[in-house]
Amino acid sequence: MHIDTQLSELGTAPEEFGGVVNMPPCRASTILFKNLKDFEAGERGEWPLPTYGRYGNPTQVALEEALAKLCKADHAIVTASGLAAIVAGISSCVSAGDHILVTDAIYGPARRYCDHELKKFGVEVTYYDPTIGGGIASLIQKNTKLVYVESPGSLTFEMQDVPAIAAAAHKAGALVMADCTWATPLFFDAHAHGVDIIMHSATKYIAGHSDLVMGVLACKAQLYKGLLRTVRNLGACPAADNCALALRGLRTLSLRMARHQESGLKVAHWLKARPEVAQVLHPALPGAPGHDLWKRDMTGTPSLFSAWLKPINHASLEKFFDSLHHFGLGYSWGGFESLAIPCKLDKVRTACPTQKDFGPLIRFHIGLENVEDLIGDLEKGFGRL
Ligand SMILES: Cc1ncc(COP(=O)(O)O)c(C=O)c1O
Repeated sequence: MHIDTQLSELGTAPEEFGGVVNMPPCRASTILFKNLKDFEAGERGEWPLPTYGRYGNPTQVALEEALAKLCKADHAIVTASGLAAIVAGISSCVSAGDHILVTDAIYGPARRYCDHELKKFGVEVTYYDPTIGGGIASLIQKNTKLVYVESPGSLTFEMQDVPAIAAAAHKAGALVMADCTWATPLFFDAHAHGVDIIMHSATKYIAGHSDLVMGVLACKAQLYKGLLRTVRNLGACPAADNCALALRGLRTLSLRMARHQESGLKVAHWLKARPEVAQVLHPALPGAPGHDLWKRDMTGTPSLFSAWLKPINHASLEKFFDSLHHFGLGYSWGGFESLAIPCKLDKVRTACPTQKDFGPLIRFHIGLENVEDLIGDLEKGFGRL
């Protein structure tokens, strides 16, 4: 089935809900069993459906089945946030005394979890240069249980050679977990590139409307039970209403991504030609860092990227941001609206030097507005510099 058809048809069950096309949000805490036999099957973990609201509901199950198919995985589990999915995924793989390798360009709050929580529980964390590729083999220790990748990386968009990293990890008996949020399930076939645990923040493009927070873990059958146990033990379940909204987001995912791709590239090309811009970090832009890996491994691009400006003072930066009308100044991305934020790397990089010769780094998310309006807005902002 073509992906567009899948996005229309997955996760619907009109026959179970009076013909209603959309899955309704099945808000639930208590779920009733028909008889003691079924209840006892639930107690033994042998009941095929959720037995309590924290373990799911029909809306969540429909969303998880849809996401598993889109990720080309055997199973998907949705969580309360993308960060909850990261925490559950990593925690399910490690015990005290283990070691994990983590890309230096990991999403910042996930790094804080590694530094403050994981280390507290006796797990050793080594950050590595995201562009290390097969060289990761030299960092693998006897107790390395997991190699964590995020390609491209947060804020600086380094592409990683995921197959080379996965080959080295697997040779040493370690698993590979990947934050695939940027590429969405549409543009990167993570399992085919050696990823064992696929993670998405559904908050971004999957839900697509900046109105919920949710995470996804997807995996093959052999890892499912362990991941599910950890997610459940952490109590990190999403709300039924958010599951219904995420299902609605899926219906337009492919359409939205086509528009994000086109507009994002247009703005990136425009920025590249601006005299105020030192370098554009957009892996799908020919000549940009990581472009060859992007071309090899991905089938499309979203519209999140950064640009280094040439050196300017803070007052000028303030003028630039404060004059933008169509670009909001706020966290997150993947929604319908355009955003721009200044990025600070000093607290979120330790393994590779941060670029010192340029001015400020700005991360752009190009939304679904008319692209000429967006370019006009940036032009006005640069005029204020
Ligand atoms: C790359 C990446 N991964 C994970 C997350 C965390 O997702 P959430 O905000 O849903 O917890 C974010 C959030 O910005 C992100 O940018």
